[in-house]
Amino acid sequence: MSTVLVTGASRGIGAEFVRQYAADGWRVHALARDPRNSERLAETQRTHRDRISVHAIDVTDHAAIDALASELAGTPIDVLLNVAGVLVANPFGQSDYDRWMNSIRVNLFGPMKVAEAFVEHVAASDQRKIVTLTSVLGSIGGNAAGGMYDYRSTKAAVNAIMKSMSLDLARRGIIAVPIHPGWVRTDMGGSRAEVDVATSVTGMRAVIVGLTPAQSGRFLSYQGSELPW
Ligand SMILES: NC(=O)c1ccc[n+]([C@@H]2O[C@H](COP(=O)([O-])OP(=O)(O)OC[C@H]3O[C@@H](n4cnc5c(N)ncnc54)[C@H](OP(=O)(O)O)[C@@H]3O)[C@@H](O)[C@H]2O)c1
Repeated sequence: MSTVLVTGASRGIGAEFVRQYAADGWRVHALARDPRNSERLAETQRTHRDRISVHAIDVTDHAAIDALASELAGTPIDVLLNVAGVLVANPFGQSDYDRWMNSIRVNLFGPMKVAEAFVEHVAASDQRKIVTLTSVLGSIGGNAAGGMYDYRSTKAAVNAIMKSMSLDLARRGIIAVPIHPGWVRTDMGGSRAEVDVATSVTGMRAVIVGLTPAQSGRFLSYQGSELPW
């Protein structure tokens, strides 16, 4: 049985990853800040109780991440999915540096810390994939609208770390990619977004299952196309 670890599993894209992987027979480690308050997670647990382990983890809490990695020592993790994220988008002249720093902690340090803590679990698995949810808004080449300094900068930076990871971990057979999920109807994406969450996650799962070492370090969309850095 393949195993996936998902951060930000309480709602939105993370909760849908948990639902789809569990329904597909995977063993799922679902990490959420406050799992008791997640109706989505509770619903999936009711249906697939035997396959889901829920862990209360805030991705800014590095000690808790290390403790969970120790607790799961010896457990191979085929796919490590960094989904937790926050969106702060203040216009020029109105930057809120405290909130921006929190975005850096969640969107950038979070995926880095989770990857560093769980790399041995991934290396011990069959599939050996580390996937981080990024955004096309992190594309510098694709930025034609300006604004969103805080969110864009955290996603551009997480793209940079995923590229380095793909190079550093290649010798261990680990594939590392940043994936853009599309503009998705979640709390973050809003009700006017283009893609429903099930379609986005189905697309990303298809991309993930087909990932080859040659694709490691590429910036991909949920439909498998390559995006400009
Ligand atoms: N929706 C889109 O259109 C879109 C587009 C491009 C990229 N993305 C990216 O896709 C990912 C998921 O987005 P979404 O649309 O599902 O967002 P969402 O509906 O706002 O959900 C965000 C998730 O991140 C979790 N989270 C936030 N801070 C956290 C922390 N410190 N520790 C642990 N978990 C934390 C939230 O947990 P709580 O419930 O505890 O708050 C929630 O589970 C994000 O990385 C986002 O940047 C989304």
